[in-house]
Amino acid sequence: MKRYLIVALLISTAAIAAENPLISAPATDVEKWAGKLKEFKKPEMPSVKGYPKPFHYPNSYEYQMNDVCSACHTFAAHKKDKKYAPFYNAHGTFMSCNVCHFVKEEVTYRWAEIKNGKVVLLENGDFYGLKYIQSDERVFLSGEDNPAKIVPVYNGAPVELPLKGNENLLKDNKAVASMHNALSEEALKCEDCHTKNGKLDFEALGFSPERVKDLEKNEIVKGLKEYETIHFPKFIW
Ligand code: HEC
Ligand code: HEC
Ligand code: HEC
Repeated sequence: MKRYLIVALLISTAAIAAENPLISAPATDVEKWAGKLKEFKKPEMPSVKGYPKPFHYPNSYEYQMNDVCSACHTFAAHKKDKKYAPFYNAHGTFMSCNVCHFVKEEVTYRWAEIKNGKVVLLENGDFYGLKYIQSDERVFLSGEDNPAKIVPVYNGAPVELPLKGNENLLKDNKAVASMHNALSEEALKCEDCHTKNGKLDFEALGFSPERVKDLEKNEIVKGLKEYETIHFPKFIW
């Protein structure tokens, strides 16, 4: 009896794994990834003290790093591109890394929440109504605390790996190789989304008509193109 149970369990985990391209991608270059992991230093998140005070809330910049990608990279993953990195980092707090890094024609996008090691797709809606607000020399991101984020959905399955239940993947060189092999060469950039008929269907995601207009014709995206360097000392944005 017990043996049947184990077989059934094995089959069901295999079935789940096969659906997620982050796990099922070929594990080539395992040695290379083993080496990279050895050298890797987890990016430091700025200390809470270093953050600007938010407008309406107690200082609460504690984002849940409850997926496998952010468990390694944190939300300060980007640093190479001085001008845009803070914005990539900020977007990572309300959308899965894979929205930008797993790019395929057939992908659709949904709001989701990670609950108890599962990715639960949510009814669509504007969960944050986020706004970047300029004050003195700083740019703030205002909005509600909410664990919801946008995830890509591919072949009916969300392309996201909850951390809970997958902790073993962090130490598994083969799994790390597969994950990165599944990602696209070119990640999505500002104009891929902030434009009319961009990669994300803002309306289908539940944004109000005014928000859709703001997001499509985003002044900050336009302004950044002309602005040479942006200084966000130590902040993730
Ligand atoms: C076990 C730790 C670990 C996990 C989990 C992990 N990464 Fe990485 N990632 C790394 C390391 C190490 C590098 C190489 C960094 C370097 O070369 O400076 C890297 C590099 C990258 C790069 C740069 C491109 C490249 O191929 O070198 C991207 C993009 C990336 N990771 C995205 C992700 C995403 C998205 C996920 C989740 C699906 C993820 N990573 C999961 C450790 C990890
Ligand atoms: C809004 C889109 C977007 C999101 C969300 C996003 N990235 Fe990126 N990421 C990019 C782009 C674009 C690049 C390439 C930047 C370049 O070419 O200068 C990049 C580059 C990287 C790199 C290379 C190092 C660097 O400094 O550029 C890593 C590592 C990485 N991303 C990891 C992640 C992880 C982990 C997450 C989620 C926590 C994530 N990304 C979320 C767009 C995004
Ligand atoms: C994958 C699509 C995608 C990419 C790529 C992307 N964004 Fe966004 N961006 C969004 C979404 C979705 C929101 C709305 C978040 C919300 O309100 O919940 C947003 C919000 C914003 C806002 C706030 C706008 C407002 O009206 O409140 C700014 C500013 C912004 N993005 C700038 C950028 C910049 C700069 C880049 C490139 C570095 C970028 N975005 C890349 C999808 C994207």
